[in-house]
Amino acid sequence: MHRFLESNRGLWDEWADIHAHSTWYDLESVRRGTCKLRSYEIDEVGEVDGRSLLHLQCQLGTDTVSWARRGATVTGVDFSPRAVAVARQLAADTGIEAHFVCSDVLTLPAALTGTFDIVYTSRGVLGWLPDLTRWAQVAAHFLAPGGVFYVTDIHPIAEVLDPSAAELRVSRPYFPRAEPVCHPVQGSYVDRDARVATEVEYLWPHSVAELITAVARAGLVIEFFHEFPWLDRPWPFLHKQEGLGWTLPPGGLGELPLFFSLRAGKAAAGASG
Ligand SMILES: C[S@@+](CC[C@H](N)C(=O)[O-])C[C@H]1O[C@@H](n2cnc3c(N)ncnc32)[C@H](O)[C@@H]1O
Repeated sequence: MHRFLESNRGLWDEWADIHAHSTWYDLESVRRGTCKLRSYEIDEVGEVDGRSLLHLQCQLGTDTVSWARRGATVTGVDFSPRAVAVARQLAADTGIEAHFVCSDVLTLPAALTGTFDIVYTSRGVLGWLPDLTRWAQVAAHFLAPGGVFYVTDIHPIAEVLDPSAAELRVSRPYFPRAEPVCHPVQGSYVDRDARVATEVEYLWPHSVAELITAVARAGLVIEFFHEFPWLDRPWPFLHKQEGLGWTLPPGGLGELPLFFSLRAGKAAAGASG
């Protein structure tokens, strides 16, 4: 396991430098005040002003900073030292007080203490994790009583599709497995022509059943699981739909869920079942 995570960490270190200079992440606009959060997640997470928020897999800190601007006291976590360095600099440049921790999410209780009102994670996170059961336990561990766990990511159904094919093609496993699936790396998702020394990425498939069972077994109460017909990134076989992101070609009856959000709560102190 260790070698897969070490390899992925090296890849994310390389990507952090590429992403920090990309128009996709556009750090300059974040410095000027642009909010990188999507309106649906702002609505679904709910009020963050005056609340503590733990952001898992925060990468460059763009969303972390955006939550802080909405009034949250933020802590970001990522296992890439390069990404954490960029995130710390972004917070410093914008005068935002944010705490960043460099750690594997799955071992975070060894690196961070305290509890949070909100645990948040988003966009491109689950596939990098070998163990969703442990991941959900970590989220539950850091939630204060009455706190909220919010996840929004690529839908497990969309993860079976080949993201570089010109036409919709099912090419990846859906059901969970212990060993990761190894894919060749071609630049980065923000720049396919970028030079990257790491040759492969290791991803773990996760099913909807696995996700929901992991969250429920961690003792959290699932409030909703929403499915969306759009993706947040331009896979070649999808069509840009203004205001929605990228969807299957319009006009036909064919539909697939491409993105999801899940919100779960930790029982308030003194609450009984
Ligand atoms: C696609 S990015 C997350 C995107 C982020 N929401 C954003 O918009 O910038 C995935 C992040 O997960 C981090 N990551 C991957 N595996 C991890 C792990 N086991 N523990 C902590 N971070 C991890 C990577 O370093 C990367 O920064």
